[in-house]
Amino acid sequence: MEKKEAPKSSLDALVSLCKRRGFIFQSSEIYGGFAGFWDYGPLGCEMKRNIKESWWRATVRDREDVEGLDASIIMHPATWKASGHLDTFSDPMSMCKGNCRKLMRADQIWDIYEDSTLCATLTSMLGDAGKIATWCKTKGKSAAPGLYTVQHPEHLEAIFETLKGITDAKQLLITLATPAGEAEALPCPNCGGVMTEPRPFNLMFKTIVGPIEDPSNVAYLRPETAQAIFAEFSNVMVSSRQMPPFGIGQIGKSFRNEVTPRNYIFRSREFEQMELEFFIKPDEAIELLEGHVATLTDTTDLSVPQADWGWECWHKYWVEQRKLWLVKNGLPQESFVEYWQKPDELAHYARACVDIEYRFPFGVQELEGIAARSDFDLSRHQEHSGKSMEVFDEPLKLAVKKMSDEEKAAFRQKTVADWEARGKSAEAANAFIDRLFEGRYIPHVIEPSSGVDRMALAMLCNAYEEQHLVDEKGKEDIRTVLHLAPAIAPIKVGVFPLVKNKPELYNLAREIFKKLQRRYNCFWDESGAIGRRYRRQDEVGTPFCVTVDFDTLEKDGTVTLRDRDTMQQERISVEDLIKKLDDLILG
Ligand code: GAP
Repeated sequence: MEKKEAPKSSLDALVSLCKRRGFIFQSSEIYGGFAGFWDYGPLGCEMKRNIKESWWRATVRDREDVEGLDASIIMHPATWKASGHLDTFSDPMSMCKGNCRKLMRADQIWDIYEDSTLCATLTSMLGDAGKIATWCKTKGKSAAPGLYTVQHPEHLEAIFETLKGITDAKQLLITLATPAGEAEALPCPNCGGVMTEPRPFNLMFKTIVGPIEDPSNVAYLRPETAQAIFAEFSNVMVSSRQMPPFGIGQIGKSFRNEVTPRNYIFRSREFEQMELEFFIKPDEAIELLEGHVATLTDTTDLSVPQADWGWECWHKYWVEQRKLWLVKNGLPQESFVEYWQKPDELAHYARACVDIEYRFPFGVQELEGIAARSDFDLSRHQEHSGKSMEVFDEPLKLAVKKMSDEEKAAFRQKTVADWEARGKSAEAANAFIDRLFEGRYIPHVIEPSSGVDRMALAMLCNAYEEQHLVDEKGKEDIRTVLHLAPAIAPIKVGVFPLVKNKPELYNLAREIFKKLQRRYNCFWDESGAIGRRYRRQDEVGTPFCVTVDFDTLEKDGTVTLRDRDTMQQERISVEDLIKKLDDLILG
């Protein structure tokens, strides 16, 4: 069969496949849906479990320097004061003062407009002033009742000539929305009404703990899993007998009252995160222990962590680890970009932050972030809880003991200068050095943080293909296929008996199915032509299909093993089949 060039896949086609085949449903669909909330169906929840399992294995279980955590979703409200979420975790929001009263993120108004029916309508009329004027007086009354020119059609005459020359849908909206067409005005992308000035809106969901609805009982659903890791830092370190460098990983639900949840499961109000907080010694401690801090260059070997690594090497190491994980799990290197935030984009405490951005159908957007957050988080919790977040590092104390007074003075002088160059006070630097000389410091942290749902979306977008096939007789056909990595695919193997009415053949196929089902998620399908059964599995990303046919019984006992991507089949004995599938699926 010959493959023709495939058409570009759209998000709509994927969304429809995901609903039809049981990956993702709108939450509460029977009540009209609930914006920003999604349900994962039989295949979606298997796929999500596979993503989490793969992350957990690579980040926690396969490493000796990372421990796991499963903390509660609702934490003491003081947590969010310490983390800064109560004061600063907000989006600027505007509300439509016109007919629809819609709330939206002020920085997303134009994006929302670009996706809207209003934009499509105005675009179709660009340059045709007569058509625009008629629309304002007729259909515009229901499509955009908030627009100034819809409410004041007498104004159209004054701007008629201007309308002729407008070639941009944004400019047209602005012109129609205000008497003078002020460039700064942001009209409502839904009804054309005037928007309020942006105001900060906290993204945390509030709840009440206990039976009394009193402000003192307000608590919050966590907006990220990270803070519980910081709060449990000492407990985990002591109970697992770890010392920096070591990490704590957690997977769990997070909640953000996103003002405008959009782009399918990309930005939701309830989602899952996979976060690692990797605690490292401050560079100054490495300097005292190792005599130097390794310099990060283009040729630094980042495959195996080294004792002389400072934050820069550790940060780059985790960027590389995350990229390797993405590629291993089916996202090719060319499908994502690495964006290093510029100094003026970084949070004041952050040393560096890399966003891994994926080319989604709706634009290049953040998939996950890897931040070097200094000792900010643990310091804040120490300050707010009054509990020490310091570690005592015996080898560090011994290293300092061996230093002469001159060496200590030189170290102090250099460190104070470094801190001052970074805008910190000499007093803070000296207090830090005093503790360091006693072998004590608050660890710094590297934070690779990623979203399960966003990862699932990227993997689905990347996997989706509509192939135009032409058979030997010239018959054309479209094969929809999800090229998911075997580790991520919800079903690993489809098992089929060629026919239903031959008990020997049927029972053998059933036996193979049961055997494989114990190892990984398999699917039994006995209905319809074999070609249709393959197609049903291709569409949900099943990488392998096994068919028991007449040759299995009558010839050599072999079955056929079909590869989803190449559509090639090979004959293989049942014993070899299991070994081969183990290699292909479990790696
Ligand atoms: N602890 C750091 C932190 O939470 P973030 O950039 O706000 O950083 C990390 O979130 C990741 O969580 C994002 O890269 C994204 O994958 C996911 N994420 C954040 N908000 C989300 C939302 N509203 N819906 C889906 N995923 C989201």
